[in-house]
Amino acid sequence: MYNILLLGSGGREHALAWKINQSSKLNRLYIAPGNAGTAEIGTNVSISATDFEAIKDFVLKNEINMVVVGPEDPLVKGIYNFFREDTSLNHIPVIGPSKEGAQLEGSKDFAKQFMKRYHIPTAQYLSVTKENIAEGIDFLHSLPAPYVLKADGLAAGKGVLIIDNLAKAEEELKTMLDGSFGKASETVVIEQFLSGIECSVFVLTDGKDYKILPEAKDYKRIGEGDTGLNTGGMGAVSPVSFANEEFMKKVEERIVVPTIKGLQQENIDYKGFIFLGLIKVDGEPMVIEYNCRMGDPETEVVMLRIDSDLVDLLEGVAEGNLKSRELKIDSRTAVTVMLVSAGYPGDYEKGKLIEGLNIVEGSILFHAGTSISDSSCVTSGGRVIAVSSYGKDKAEALQFSYANAKVIRFDGKNYRKDIGFDLL
Ligand code: AMP
Ligand code: GLY
Repeated sequence: MYNILLLGSGGREHALAWKINQSSKLNRLYIAPGNAGTAEIGTNVSISATDFEAIKDFVLKNEINMVVVGPEDPLVKGIYNFFREDTSLNHIPVIGPSKEGAQLEGSKDFAKQFMKRYHIPTAQYLSVTKENIAEGIDFLHSLPAPYVLKADGLAAGKGVLIIDNLAKAEEELKTMLDGSFGKASETVVIEQFLSGIECSVFVLTDGKDYKILPEAKDYKRIGEGDTGLNTGGMGAVSPVSFANEEFMKKVEERIVVPTIKGLQQENIDYKGFIFLGLIKVDGEPMVIEYNCRMGDPETEVVMLRIDSDLVDLLEGVAEGNLKSRELKIDSRTAVTVMLVSAGYPGDYEKGKLIEGLNIVEGSILFHAGTSISDSSCVTSGGRVIAVSSYGKDKAEALQFSYANAKVIRFDGKNYRKDIGFDLL
């Protein structure tokens, strides 16, 4: 039986907590720091997901025997290594890669070199620092517009710029190298622009074997028809119609298998989730990015589609016998619609009273940015609540989510009315 500490505080973590809470192998569930939603199914602990010393104290005092890491930050900062290197902690499994493995997300240059070494299909690229800026400018000139510039390091999802005009791209390259994203853009990856439709594929691995979890498509832009500013995600759908059997077979053979083999060859410890950000170009899958964790809001649909006991699968990861565990997938469609605060992704107000949560029927609510104030649930983030639903198809699932999106009320509520619009 497991006493689990789950790190993180968003909709992804509430969805993971919801699924973990259904396990017959769960004893106690703690979430650090969690939100108003996770507080209903486990115990919130007011510790930051990157405060390793405080996490250590809590884990030892509360007989935690599994740590599940939601966001990338603690992974890139080395929480896995912190546990392995501490004799009082090294018997406790951490679900998430080592610091070295997390470089797949923490350094775009590392990820591109890795893909090149293992012949994993991805856009052509050049990594540029102040040392080889002239080469970078030549590379830009060799590419057709638009131009893709990526800060090498973590930049809170804002480190990718797509620029139409060559002169502006040159200028932006210099600005980035001068530190417009701090240390994260001391190296910039210039990429060939790929045109196609995107989806996210999730892999759970114990470092040797793997399970491919249900794929999903997220909707990043604030505006309908994929217009306006990028957000942390406005909704998601699973399954994804264009990710058919033939496509997924190519993903497995050309991307999943060589990724796991590559990690093994380089002796990189990786026991956790791998997020493949894919694009379908002329029918063929290519990798846009790796992340070292689950996606948000994709988790808010992927967890609905996993029929098996998640803790059993995570135990397989921890024990290195994932192969012997069963992954059963729910054949229904799952969707999620994110309710956000007025003004998001720009400035927005917090502390708005949320009403109607207890009269929702036919959807599962995952809190993204909520907190409790005077025993009421109030908004505390730009993305507030993910309204997830099942259906026999996308249309039916969306009907439930949109009906409940109306039932839930808070001042300034906004959401996209067209989630899934581009799928069959
Ligand atoms: P990333 O942070 O790497 O996921 O990039 C954010 C978004 O930028 C992706 O979801 C894509 O929509 C877009 N993008 C990134 N790289 C490329 C590329 N090489 N070609 C076209 N679009 C890209
Ligand atoms: N949905 C994209 C991400 O989690 O990065």
